[in-house]
Amino acid sequence: IRLYIPIDSTALSLGAERVARAIAEEAARRGIDLGIVRNGSRGMFWLEPLIEVETVAGRVGYGPVTPADVAGLFDAGFLSGADHPLALGRVEAIPYLASQERLTFARVGVTDPLSLDDYRAHGGFAGLARAIGMSCAEVVQEVTDSGLRGRGGAAFPTGIKWNTVLAAAADRKYVVCNADEGDSGTFSDRMLMEGDPYCLIEGMAIAGLAVGATQGYIYLRSEYPHAFETLRAAIARARTAGCLGQDVMGSGRVFELEVRMGAGAYICGEETSMLESLEGKRGTVRAKPPLPAIAGLFGKPTVINNVMSLASVPTILARGAAFYRDYGMGRSRGTLPFQLAGNLRRTGLVEKAFGVTLRELLYDYGGGSASGRPIRAVQVGGPLGAYVPESQFDVPLDYEAYVAIGAMVGHGGLVAFDDRADMARMARYAMEFCAVESCGKCTPCRIGSTRGVEVIDRIVAGEQRGRNVALLNSLCDTMLNGSLCALGGMTPYPVQSALKHFPEDFGLVPDEDN
Ligand code: NAI
Ligand code: SF4
Repeated sequence: IRLYIPIDSTALSLGAERVARAIAEEAARRGIDLGIVRNGSRGMFWLEPLIEVETVAGRVGYGPVTPADVAGLFDAGFLSGADHPLALGRVEAIPYLASQERLTFARVGVTDPLSLDDYRAHGGFAGLARAIGMSCAEVVQEVTDSGLRGRGGAAFPTGIKWNTVLAAAADRKYVVCNADEGDSGTFSDRMLMEGDPYCLIEGMAIAGLAVGATQGYIYLRSEYPHAFETLRAAIARARTAGCLGQDVMGSGRVFELEVRMGAGAYICGEETSMLESLEGKRGTVRAKPPLPAIAGLFGKPTVINNVMSLASVPTILARGAAFYRDYGMGRSRGTLPFQLAGNLRRTGLVEKAFGVTLRELLYDYGGGSASGRPIRAVQVGGPLGAYVPESQFDVPLDYEAYVAIGAMVGHGGLVAFDDRADMARMARYAMEFCAVESCGKCTPCRIGSTRGVEVIDRIVAGEQRGRNVALLNSLCDTMLNGSLCALGGMTPYPVQSALKHFPEDFGLVPDEDN
C-alpha cells in the first residue's frame, strides 16, 4: 500500500511530521506494511497535512489530518480509500486543483521529490535530452519563441537575456538562480524546490548548455533550510546519475551546480547584490551597466534567472515553444503560479495562464476572505507591489494590463486584506520596510524612506495635510526616478496606490486633498 505524506515546509509547519509518525506507528501496531512516500505539497494549504492513498481509482485524499485522526482513519479503512469525515475523494478531481493549468508545477505533490526514476517517469529530463541535440543558438531561440519572461518580477524576455550571454565572449560563464524569494506572500520558488528539485536542476543545465556556462549556483534564501537539504541531496543524486557534472547526459558538455545559502537580507535578492553576496562580499547594489549578462559573477557573463523562469524551461524544451506560447494573453505568455495569501479562506498555489483575474483567484479559488468580511485590497507582487482595490479586481493579470493601472504582477504573490485594514498604516509600513531593508547606497532610498515614514505620520495626524500630501508625492517621484534599484524605486507603488485608492484612511476627503 502506498501512502503520500508531504514533507514540504508548509505541510511540516502544519504538523505533517507528527502525522507521518502517528501513521507509521499505527501501521506497525496493526501489522500493516506501508510504503510511505514523502511528497511535495499540492498547494492546497487549508487541507494540509493532506494524506493521499494510492487506490485503483487513483490517489484519494484525506485532510487536514491531525495525529488524533489517525486511529479513526485506519478503523474506517482509509488505506483502501474508504469514506471518512476527512475524505476528499480523488485529489486531482478537487476543483481547486483540477481547474489549474499546471505546467511548471505538473509534478509538484505528485512525485517523490528526490526520486530520479519518478522524475523521469513523469517526463523529467526530456527537455535536457532535446537541448543536447540542438545548437546553443537553437535552444536560445526556442526559449525566445516561447515568450517566457522573467518570473522574478521584472518580466524581461528570458531568451533575449540568454542571447546576450551567449554572444558574450569569455573563458568562463555562469548561470545563477535567484532563489532568494523574499517577497511577502510568496512561496512558489520554495514549493518547487522542495517538491520537484530536479525541474530546477534540469532548467539550469539547459541554460548552461544554451549559453556555454559550465558552472551554476543556486542562491537560496537562508530561511529555507528544508529546500537547502532537498536541493543538496538532489544535486548529488543528479551528479551521480550523470545529469550534471563533467559529461552531462553523455553530451561531453560540462555543467556543475552548487547551492549557496543567502545572507539573510531582502536586498540580496536584487541581482547585483546577490552577485556581491555570492562573491563573499556584503550585499550592496552595483550600478548597471554593465549588465550581469555581460559582466556578472566574478566579472564574467552570467545568466541570472529566478527559480520559476528556470523551472519553466524544461517544459518549453520538452513540449516546444508553441505549446507554451499558446497559454496566456498579449505579451504575457505561458502560465504563472499565483500564490494566494493573507485573509483568504483557501490559501495556496494556483498555476494559471496569464489573463486570469484577481476576482477569479480571490473568490473561485480563495473562497473569499477568511474573516467573512469584504476584501478591500490586495497587494499584488510583494511588498513593493501596489494595493489593488475592489474596482480593479476584474483587470486581467497580464504584465502590461497591470502596468496600465499603476500596479505590477511581479512574482505572482497576492496578499488579501479585508475592510478592517488601515491602508495608511500599510503605506507607512512600505516606507518603513524600505528604510529597514535599504542597502544604503543611494540617497533617495536611504534617506527618502525615513522621511517618507515621517511625512505619512504627519498626514495621518492631520498636520498641514495638503502640503504634506504634495511633499509625499514629490518624495515618491524622487524615489521612483532617482533610486539605483527596485527597492527604493518601487516603494512608491504601495504608498501611492494606498493614497490614491484609500484617501479616507489618511484622513483625506476623496478627490480633494489628494
Ligand atoms: P530590470 O528591469 O533592471 O532588469 C530585468 C532583468 O533583465 C535583469 O536581470 C537585467 O540584468 C536584465 N536585462 C536588462 N536588459 C538586458 C539585456 N539587454 N540583455 C540581457 N539582460 C538584460 O529589473 P531588476 O532591477 O533586476 O528587477 C526589478 C524587478 O524585480 C521588479 O520588477 C520587481 O518586480 C522584482 N522584484 C522581485 C522580488 C522577488 O522576491 N522575486 C523582490 C523585489 C523585486
Ligand atoms: Fe540600495 Fe535602496 Fe539604493 Fe537599492 S534603492 S541601491 S536598496 S539604497
